[in-house]
Amino acid sequence: VLDLCAAPGGKTAQLAAASAQVTAIDVSKRRLARVGENLARLGLAAELVAADAAAFTPSAPADVVLLDAPCTATGTIRRHPDIAVLKTPADIAACVALQRRLLDAAATMVAPGGVLIYAVCSLQPEEGPDQVAALLARHAELRRAPVDPAEVAGLADLVTAEGDLRTLPCHLAAEGGMDGFYVARLRRGPVLAGRRAS
Ligand SMILES: C[S@@+](CC[C@H](N)C(=O)[O-])C[C@H]1O[C@@H](n2cnc3c(N)ncnc32)[C@H](O)[C@@H]1O
Repeated sequence: VLDLCAAPGGKTAQLAAASAQVTAIDVSKRRLARVGENLARLGLAAELVAADAAAFTPSAPADVVLLDAPCTATGTIRRHPDIAVLKTPADIAACVALQRRLLDAAATMVAPGGVLIYAVCSLQPEEGPDQVAALLARHAELRRAPVDPAEVAGLADLVTAEGDLRTLPCHLAAEGGMDGFYVARLRRGPVLAGRRAS
């Protein structure tokens, strides 16, 4: 697995704990050091690379590429209410541009038949479903691999009509609710006749 925006390493650790061979990349050396500390504390291992993921070239295409992208984090607003005051439309536009650059790079790193996971803790459509729709329009080799509610404990409310995962603070309210989070799963296949790769 190529974990392209890895720090502080929550998902790197979960992947390593599930026996995946993970290369964890982050542009911030300081934050990447946290990944190393967290893995060591948990008795887990991954290859760590300090790099701009948009300019990174892997030694070989990966079975799975995870892009847990930088975002406005509006899904965490119940824990960080200052987001409503501090974040501006310009922040959304800047995140959308960076995510687009990272997604285009990530798409080139997926092996044929492999999977690209895109995740953000933002609930802004521009950073989630709109971003994925635009990616699919640019990359004819990618198509959605819809999430089945059975993969998320049968919680059909968490799966959108398109087959993406979208959690909201109102979900699992009796258990305290959930942060907002968005995940799309895409698979790299052959380019079909009539669809043009960008
Ligand atoms: C949402 S956090 C990732 C959280 C992490 N996946 C986890 O589960 O713990 C986004 C990360 O992207 C990193 N980042 C931002 N721009 C980047 C870039 N161009 N290349 C690689 N990493 C980048 C940030 O330093 C930050 O650590």
